[in-house]
Amino acid sequence: MSSDVLQRARDFESQYGPHIPDSERPAFHATPTIGWMNDPNGFSFYKGECHLFYQYHPYSNEWGPMHWGHLKTRDFLRWERLPAALAPDRDYDSAGCFSGGAAELPDGRQLLMYTGVQRGHSADGFLQDIQAQCVAIGDGVNYEKVLDNPVLDAGDLPEGGSAVDFRDPKLWRNTDGTFCAVIGNRTADGSGAILLYQSRDGLKWEFVRTLDRCCNQYGKMWECPDFFPLDGKQVLITSPQDMSPVGLEFHAGNGTLCLIGDYDGEKGFTRQSAQAIDYGLDFYAPQTLEAPDGRRIMIAWMQNWDTVNAKPYHCRWFGQMTLPRELSVENGRLIQRPVRELEAYRTRRVVHKNIPVSGEINLPGIQGRVLDMTVTVRPTGPERYRWFRIRVAKDGEHETIIRYRPDQGTLKLDRVRSGLPHDIVHTRTFLVRYREGEIKLRIVLDRYSLEVFVNDGEQAASAVIYTRQEAGAITFEAGGTALMDVEKYDLDFDGQEA
Ligand code: FRU
Repeated sequence: MSSDVLQRARDFESQYGPHIPDSERPAFHATPTIGWMNDPNGFSFYKGECHLFYQYHPYSNEWGPMHWGHLKTRDFLRWERLPAALAPDRDYDSAGCFSGGAAELPDGRQLLMYTGVQRGHSADGFLQDIQAQCVAIGDGVNYEKVLDNPVLDAGDLPEGGSAVDFRDPKLWRNTDGTFCAVIGNRTADGSGAILLYQSRDGLKWEFVRTLDRCCNQYGKMWECPDFFPLDGKQVLITSPQDMSPVGLEFHAGNGTLCLIGDYDGEKGFTRQSAQAIDYGLDFYAPQTLEAPDGRRIMIAWMQNWDTVNAKPYHCRWFGQMTLPRELSVENGRLIQRPVRELEAYRTRRVVHKNIPVSGEINLPGIQGRVLDMTVTVRPTGPERYRWFRIRVAKDGEHETIIRYRPDQGTLKLDRVRSGLPHDIVHTRTFLVRYREGEIKLRIVLDRYSLEVFVNDGEQAASAVIYTRQEAGAITFEAGGTALMDVEKYDLDFDGQEA
C-alpha cells in the first residue's frame, strides 16, 4: 500500500518529469526523473533486469528528505523510469530513507534494505540523526515496509559504535540462500569502520564482525561500503568523508577508497593494498552488482558533495550516475573498463594513425559531444615530448583539457573553462604508470560529462561539465613532437527505446 507521502512523490514525478526534454539530459548516463539525485542504491539484478534505485528528492534540485527513485535497464545504458519506490513516511525514517541495497528473496520477491533516519537531540541539545536499518519487500515496482522495522538499530552495534552514523547497508544473497550486509559505522575514535551482518531470511539480522577500520588514516566516517570477491581477491570499497590527500592519491573531502585483500571466515578481512577508485573530480558512493554472466559491474554518483551548489541556473534535474564499469583485479590493483554494452552503440568510426602532433591541430571527423574515443600518444624517437593536451567540448570560449606530462608521469583534468560560472574545484592531477612516454586514453563523452580510462582501465577519472552542446571541437597539442593514433566512434542512442 502506497502512503500519501509516496503517492505525492509519484504524482509529482509523473506530472512534471516528462516536461524535461530528453535532449536536455545525458544520452546514456542515468539521471533522476526530476529533481535531485545522489547515491546509487539497490544496484542489482531482479527477474533478469538490472534495477537501479537512487537517493532522490523530486521536489527541487537540492538535497532534501530522501526518497528512493527507481530505474531499470537491460544494457546498463538505456534507462527505463519506474515510480519512486520509497518515501520517508514512517517514524523510523521520517528524516529520510538513506542509501541501501537490494536482493531477491527465495520466494521471488525483492528485498530492499535501507537506512531509516530520524531526527533526535544529542546530550547538549543539538539536533542529530538516529540511523537504523530497515527493510521493504516488493515486486519490482511497489514495496511494503515490514512491521518489524527497524531490523537493526543501536542495540545491534559492536561496542563503541555510533547510532548517529550507522548507515548504507549493501546487501547480497549467498549461494546457500542466506543474506549478508556490510554497513558503515563511526567508532569511538571518531573514524569509520565497516560492519558485517548476516541473516537467514533478510528480516532477522545479527552482527558478524568488523571487517576493517579507518583508525583515522583514510578520512573519517566510512560511507556506502561494498564487499565482494574478485579474481581471487576480496575487495572492500567505501566512500570516506573528511579525507586528506596523500601525495596525488586521494583528494580532500569526500573521496573513495578501494581496499584489496583476502577474506577468511575465521580470521576476517586482511587488507593488502589501498587505492583511490576514481581520480577525477566527480565520483562518490559507488555500488557494484554481479551480473548473471559473472561480471562485477560498478556504478557511482558522478558528483562531488563539495561542488553540488554549482549547477546550471534553473536546472530541473541534478545528479548523474557514472557509466557502469566492469571491474577486475590485476596485479593487486582495481581495473575499470566501460561496460562492453557501450560498443553496440558505436557508429561512424574515424581512425587516424601515426599523426605527428606539435602545435594545436584538429583532425577530420574528430569532433562531437557523445562519443567514445581512444587516443594513444608516444614519443617520435629518443627526443621526448614534454606534454600533450587533448581539448574537448571546445569552442571560442570553452574547453575542457586532459593533459599528460610524461616527465612527471601525471595526468590532469582541467574544466576551468568548461562554462560553469562558479569558483569550485576545477582541476585534478594524478600519477599514472610510466610506460616509456606512451599513454593510452579512452575518453567517453556524454552531453554533460567526460570519463577517462587510462591504459586499458588502470585508472579512471570522471568529471561533470555543463558546457553548451554547440561546443563540440576536439584538438590535440604537444610540447615538442609526439606521435598519436586516434580511433573515434560517435555513440548513437537516437531512436532506440529502452
Ligand atoms: C553518501 C550519503 C550516504 C547517505 C546518503 C544520504 O553520499 O551521505 O551516507 O545514506 O548520502 O542521502
